[in-house]
Amino acid sequence: MQQIVRRAKIIGTGSYVPDQVYTNEYLETTINTNAKWIYNSLGIKERRIADKDQATSDLAWQAGLRAIENANLHINDIDLIIVATSTPDRLAPSTACFVQDKLKAYNAVAFDIAAVCSGFLYAMSVASQYIASDVYQNILVIGADTFSKITDWNRRDAVFFGDGAGAAIVSQANPNEGFLAYRLYSDGRGKENFTVPAGGSAMPCDSTTLENGLHYFKMNGKEVFNTAIKVLPKAINQVLADTGLTVNDVDFMIPHQPSVNILKKTAEIIGLPFEKVMTNMDKYANTSGGTIPILMDELNKKSILKPGHIILFAAVGSGWTYGAAIIKWS
Ligand SMILES: CC(C)(COP(=O)(O)OP(=O)(O)OC[C@H]1O[C@@H](n2cnc3c(N)ncnc32)[C@H](O)[C@@H]1OP(=O)(O)O)[C@@H](O)C(=O)NCCC(=O)NCCS
Repeated sequence: MQQIVRRAKIIGTGSYVPDQVYTNEYLETTINTNAKWIYNSLGIKERRIADKDQATSDLAWQAGLRAIENANLHINDIDLIIVATSTPDRLAPSTACFVQDKLKAYNAVAFDIAAVCSGFLYAMSVASQYIASDVYQNILVIGADTFSKITDWNRRDAVFFGDGAGAAIVSQANPNEGFLAYRLYSDGRGKENFTVPAGGSAMPCDSTTLENGLHYFKMNGKEVFNTAIKVLPKAINQVLADTGLTVNDVDFMIPHQPSVNILKKTAEIIGLPFEKVMTNMDKYANTSGGTIPILMDELNKKSILKPGHIILFAAVGSGWTYGAAIIKWS
């Protein structure tokens, strides 16, 4: 379904990554992998890893606090907190309630969104709808994940992910700025290509699931690659068509960070020069829900994003979930 939202914009950003760094060279010493292969195939040099006692909400809380400060708001101004995560602190309650309590943002309603790597995009679209309908005024949207907690560190697919959180404050915009369009898609036929088999109601954790490592993620890398380079261009071309813009109007693309080769191929298909595609997976790898807001915060703090810029967001994740959005920065 097409959604056009003209009145929501981003008034502040923040991010937080844990201090601990795992370099490719370090992983070479622990698993059967190759530092050069990781960099050439994925664009990753290192990733941040949460401490044992750091939960997703700890990262999300810090990112949220920084976004609130960047927007010059008070904690009590926040009336909704949405946390996009697929590594929640617990099955119940929501991670958003943990974040609310850590922030002491008791004026806010709080809930989670689960769309894996597309989570932040989905969450921003929900926030924009609440702004458009005047239900909430200052919405804290956070993308946060700690995939290190669902990684089998003895397997070589441990190279793909890192931990991190990013946040944005979504508020009311003037008519000629802010989000111009969103396109979101889901396709449950892709559900087995990246999944955590155990720990939910379909397969509660027990000694057998633990023994078989079913509480760790499993991923079909080839299928992720082949799907991503099909669905990202589809979503991007559609959202451009919705706004009447062309790819030449795009100043920057702030995409999810699955692998540099997925982004290069996507840019080639849509005809966007790769210099306009922003990346930071060399430092952080794929932080799932965290990728887009961490990157957006970096670019915002470096004043690379300027008023009037047309910014394209795009993401693909397990489910499948995917989509794109366009904002006129202000
Ligand atoms: C992971 C990916 C790079 C693998 O490429 P591929 O060509 O499909 O993979 P293959 O299994 O055929 O392996 C190709 C080579 O890479 C090597 N390889 C695969 N995974 C490796 C790893 N973690 N470390 C080192 N080498 C690895 C294989 O051994 C093989 O080497 P060979 O050619 O000498 O036999 C690619 O599928 C990809 O980018 N997928 C997207 C994954 C992703 O983005 N996930 C995150 C979002 S959910």
